Amino acid sequence: MKTILLLLFSISLIIFYLTACNEDNLPKFNPPADHTLSIADRYHKPDFKSPFGTGNCTSCHGSSLTGGFSTADGRSTPSCYTCHGQLW
Ligand code: HEC
Ligand code: HEC
Repeated sequence: MKTILLLLFSISLIIFYLTACNEDNLPKFNPPADHTLSIADRYHKPDFKSPFGTGNCTSCHGSSLTGGFSTADGRSTPSCYTCHGQLW
């Protein structure tokens, strides 16, 4: 009985690690210098809590924050939803 429980525990642990959000799978970006706020090693522009308001993220990350805009130097902004769930 003990071995079976241990086996089940190990299997669920493996499944957890395989399905857990892996940071390394996220695309790498090269954000502008004003993206100074590091959250889990991802650089956000300050005022990120108000993307439609004072943060004005929409001017570059798209009117519905789904990205796609290109900057003057040819980089395209990521969708905010690339990395985390629907926050807005
Ligand atoms: C002037 C244009 C501009 C504005 C305004 C802007 N961004 Fe960005 N953002 C960019 C560009 C360009 C990139 C990088 C795109 C690339 O590397 O392909 C980026 C990347 C990012 C990334 C990914 C960074 C990383 O380290 O992976 C996050 C997060 C982000 N922006 C959040 C925000 C938030 C939150 C706001 C508003 C508070 C905001 N941005 C406003 C242009 C902008
Ligand atoms: C390259 C990946 C990436 C992109 C693109 C990105 N974020 Fe994030 N963001 C993260 C990570 C990682 C966290 C911290 C873990 C979490 O809360 O999911 C986070 C957290 C946040 C939080 C805090 C969530 C909370 O519960 O307090 C906000 C708000 C936020 N991001 C806003 C934005 C906005 C606005 C954009 C688009 C302009 C954006 N993010 C784009 C990676 C990203």
